[in-house]
Amino acid sequence: MAPHDAVEVITAKRDKGELSDSQIDWVIAAYTRGDVADEQMSSLAMSILLNGMVPREIARWTAAMIASGERMDFSALSRPTADKHSTGGVGDKITLPLAPLVAACGVAVPQLSGRGLGHTGGTLDKLESIPGWRATISNEEMFDQLESVGAVICAAGDGLAPADKKLYALRDVTGTVEAIPLIASSIMSKKIAEGTGALVLDVKVGTGAFMKDVDAARELAQTMVELGTHAGVNTVALLTDMNTPLGLTAGNAIEVVESLEVLQGGGPADVVELTLALAREMLAGAGVTDVDPADKLADGSAMDVWRAMISAQGGDPEAALPVARESHVVTVPSTGTLTRLDAMAVGLAAWRLGAGRARKEDPVQAGAGVVWHAQPGDVVTQGEPLFTLLTDEPERFDRALASLEGGFDIGEGPFTAQDLIIDRIG
Ligand code: URA
Repeated sequence: MAPHDAVEVITAKRDKGELSDSQIDWVIAAYTRGDVADEQMSSLAMSILLNGMVPREIARWTAAMIASGERMDFSALSRPTADKHSTGGVGDKITLPLAPLVAACGVAVPQLSGRGLGHTGGTLDKLESIPGWRATISNEEMFDQLESVGAVICAAGDGLAPADKKLYALRDVTGTVEAIPLIASSIMSKKIAEGTGALVLDVKVGTGAFMKDVDAARELAQTMVELGTHAGVNTVALLTDMNTPLGLTAGNAIEVVESLEVLQGGGPADVVELTLALAREMLAGAGVTDVDPADKLADGSAMDVWRAMISAQGGDPEAALPVARESHVVTVPSTGTLTRLDAMAVGLAAWRLGAGRARKEDPVQAGAGVVWHAQPGDVVTQGEPLFTLLTDEPERFDRALASLEGGFDIGEGPFTAQDLIIDRIG
């Protein structure tokens, strides 16, 4: 006979109780098998959202989700491993230059990434704009590529934390995504099962992020750092601003182009700053402190790893990237200083142009997206381009333009830049 039943577990949490280790192990395993129904799990998820969990419950929930699937092991590699996870933002292409950069510094990067949903982009969608590039590789190919190239960015296989795959899809349609214990355990179960030795979390805060306020972001970051540390992964978190989108592009191919600029030693200052900050944290977490990643951008060695990494997964690093068939320029309405550019407005516009998807199964347009020609603090001149909107389907322009309305301010007074890196936890 089963040691528990679903209603007993649901009512315990509904009545603000703590779930026992045995209840947690049972409910995750039974849900993964299909013995706990979706409506029961959604009721439990809502009870968790409303009543929370203590650290012991969150750690056990995470361990149970890891135990639902396979656990990868890279300890036989000849170099240490480090990974980065971002909670998702607009224009956040950092993984693209970061993975080859850290590999160029001697630390292997096993980066399992996702596709975008809603207004935040997905790393795999961006890389799939490169002709021939494959997101799906076997565990053996991943291991071999980590040894030979040093960096892999690929899709997580079905065997990794299957409980999370099922639960995340359920949360998405039951209004239970926002629970901090559930977000933290979802992210960390995948990262711990992935087998990285060190982990740096980029927890985004602001209009374009999951977490709109800094206190909630700090609580999420702290929870995840504790989970990682408890599981033996060297984990730190940076809280970073996502009121303003990163760089000058949001889309797929256009973000690859911007990443290549960074790998060539150029690119927007904010993208370079965050890439280097995260690289330094990853290297320190992996015990490498005698290499300056800035040197590896400047001397082209990060770019060499990028080319090898793309080729190893079937991509042609020299191929021309797709370009949208149609473009529409929005000009600066009045001369002044750009004082605000809203990440959510830009993210929604890129999404409506076809760069993102509304449902998991939808395709994305490789060439679609938004280019902005100024960042907060820049002086802009009336009549000059402010945004270029890109899409294959011109009927999308109107709704994209609507999302940019009210999404920026142009003023005259002094401008104080917001710090990109708000805090470090760990
Ligand atoms: N990303 C995840 O993987 N899980 C969440 O719950 C939220 C963001």
